[in-house]
Amino acid sequence: MKKIEEYVTSIPDFPEPGIIFRDITSVIGDPDGLKLAIDSLDDLLEGIDYDVVAGAESRGFIFGTPLAYKNGKGFALVRKKGKLPRETIEASYDLEYGSATIEMHKDAIKPGQKVVLVDDLIATGGTMEAAARLVEELGGKVVKIIFLIELAGLKGREKLAKYDVASVICYDGK
Ligand code: PRP
Ligand code: MG
Repeated sequence: MKKIEEYVTSIPDFPEPGIIFRDITSVIGDPDGLKLAIDSLDDLLEGIDYDVVAGAESRGFIFGTPLAYKNGKGFALVRKKGKLPRETIEASYDLEYGSATIEMHKDAIKPGQKVVLVDDLIATGGTMEAAARLVEELGGKVVKIIFLIELAGLKGREKLAKYDVASVICYDGK
């Protein structure tokens, strides 16, 4: 059986020189790759008691929703600002140049719910740190944060130090 690493396509110098882009379209485009990705993320949740899965637009949706479905949970959306139609709360985080803002519906998480956060990849950790703030502002408890891919060179885990973080595969660089 192939490993997840073998389904990821690495593209040197994208989107800029010196960066290796880890492309998950070749993971999810393959039936075995997609199954392995979801099952591997699910394995990271062994022993974790949780009520709901939340994931960040857009690639977090790809992995979070089937994971929730597989476990009989609901899925909560963390979206880029301006997309959600009802009352929201928002959180901002720094990008290399400027900042980004994400939102959740105010009723996406009920107070006291135990939440698993999912994304395809952790780079600086900014996206998931902001998402965790949103969940907490709504009264949820972040019980685990999981990623398919971790870029360890960007030290995103340090930003998430107070959470239980796990990734399926880890690359040393950026
Ligand atoms: C990418 C990736 C993660 C985030 C990781 O999403 O899918 O969500 O960046 O970076 P960070 O750890 O430094 O926050 P992006 O914002 O490019 O959007 P997309 O998922 O819609 O492609
Ligand atoms: Mg993303």
